[in-house]
Amino acid sequence: MGSKDEDHPKKKVCQLSIQTKLKLKILLLIVLTNLVTIYIFTQNSSLPLWDSTSLLHQLNSTQHELAGSHSQISDFRRKLASTTSLIESLLAELTSLRESEKTTQGNDFFNLSDEAKLAIGPHKLPLGFSPRSGSDNVHPPVGGGCLRFPEELTKYMTYDIGKECPADDVFAQRLILKGCEPLPRRRCHPKSPLGYVEPTRVPESLWTIPHDKSIIWDPYTCKNYKCLVDRQKSPGYYDCKDCFNLKGRERSRWLIDNGGLDYGMDQVLGTKPAGSIRIGLDIGGGTGTFAARMKERNITIITSTMNIDGPFNSFIASRGLIPMHVSVFQRLPFFENTLDIVHSMHVLSNWIPDTMLEFTLYDIYRVMRPGGLFWLDHFFCLGSQLNGTYVPMIDRVGFKKLRWNAGMKLDRGAEKNEWYFSALLEKPMT
Ligand SMILES: *[C@@H]1O[C@H](CO)[C@@H](O)[C@H](O)[C@H]1NC(C)=O
Ligand SMILES: *[C@@H]1O[C@H](CO)[C@@H](O)[C@H](O)[C@H]1NC(C)=O
Ligand SMILES: *[C@@H]1O[C@H](CO)[C@@H](O)[C@H](O)[C@H]1NC(C)=O
Ligand SMILES: *[C@@H]1O[C@H](CO)[C@@H](O)[C@H](O)[C@H]1NC(C)=O
Repeated sequence: MGSKDEDHPKKKVCQLSIQTKLKLKILLLIVLTNLVTIYIFTQNSSLPLWDSTSLLHQLNSTQHELAGSHSQISDFRRKLASTTSLIESLLAELTSLRESEKTTQGNDFFNLSDEAKLAIGPHKLPLGFSPRSGSDNVHPPVGGGCLRFPEELTKYMTYDIGKECPADDVFAQRLILKGCEPLPRRRCHPKSPLGYVEPTRVPESLWTIPHDKSIIWDPYTCKNYKCLVDRQKSPGYYDCKDCFNLKGRERSRWLIDNGGLDYGMDQVLGTKPAGSIRIGLDIGGGTGTFAARMKERNITIITSTMNIDGPFNSFIASRGLIPMHVSVFQRLPFFENTLDIVHSMHVLSNWIPDTMLEFTLYDIYRVMRPGGLFWLDHFFCLGSQLNGTYVPMIDRVGFKKLRWNAGMKLDRGAEKNEWYFSALLEKPMT
């Protein structure tokens, strides 16, 4: 019995403890889940989540950073916009440059044929930048005047590559004389004489008329050497009309010194120590007789000449002398201070524009060695030009006068006031 009574309160205590246990379990669960949450949060971020003020600060600074980013982005946008407009204006400038190129000399280039463009370049250097030239491409040399005549240049550059060149010597020389010098190179072969006859041996070659089959006659009025030799007797003006007759006036040129305009070669050479004049140039030397006479004195002379209605270059070469097909306008292809003597007869005269002549004289001075001689032989001009233009010009260039002779040219009458002067000039020693 008593156990029953005792049992009941026991049961109550038991029921109570079960409820408490349940509540405790729930509480424990809540605490645990919170702990887990806190644990997770503290693991994922270093934010002290429980500290609200610090959280606000953090938020505040994040907000500020965001605002800062916004202003940075708009700043970038502004810069981008200004860069875009810069690029646009640059492009516009480039386009206008190309346009202006097209409307000036660039247009001339674009009008050239492909072969002409290839001949005058530019070309990329296969090994890249060259420190020697300071460039990674090269423009083949061609006279600046060439681009002034795009149609003629294109015509000159029109041929079958690898085949025979057109017979256009006269046309080509006209282009040279207009200032397209040097001409561009071509990829064709010049016409070659049929049944070519080998040259005469030196020294006989110096005074022998070459074989007619040694050259091409297409460009000339005369079709053989007999015609050229006889030309001195025919009427009309021809360049160096009597020069092909080696038995005529050519035979005695520069052998006699008349104390006036005609200087003797030996008298000129006598102004310098024997053997000190060894190499030189004869500008516009006709058929090369000056070089022939100098060769007989063991002096090597290069003769520059055009082929104006006559095979002057071929004739000089046939004599065993060195011809050079360049006009008086071309910069001399010699290095400074190298030549012992420069001679020029008749060619340097008042037909050359004054300023160009001054450049020519400076160029002659450039290539002469100190103490070298410049023999200006029969320079033609009017009396007023002699003292008014040419004497001051020669002084200006810096030549020293070793000899000077002026004389009136009377064949057309004294009233024409036409003059010649001859001069032996020296490049001073420094
Ligand atoms: C947020 O920052 C600004 C400037 O730093 C300050 O003026 C402001 O009082 C801050 N606000 C809070 C809630 O910290
Ligand atoms: C270049 O060619 C164009 C079109 O053929 C022509 O109108 C222009 O006159 C030429 N320019 C020159 C400099 O020859
Ligand atoms: C030219 O040189 C040759 C060979 O050296 C010599 O025999 C001859 O005498 C020289 N002639 C003159 C004019 O100096
Ligand atoms: C040039 O000047 C020289 C010396 O002053 C004089 O003797 C000569 O007659 C002048 N010549 C001419 C062609 O005027």
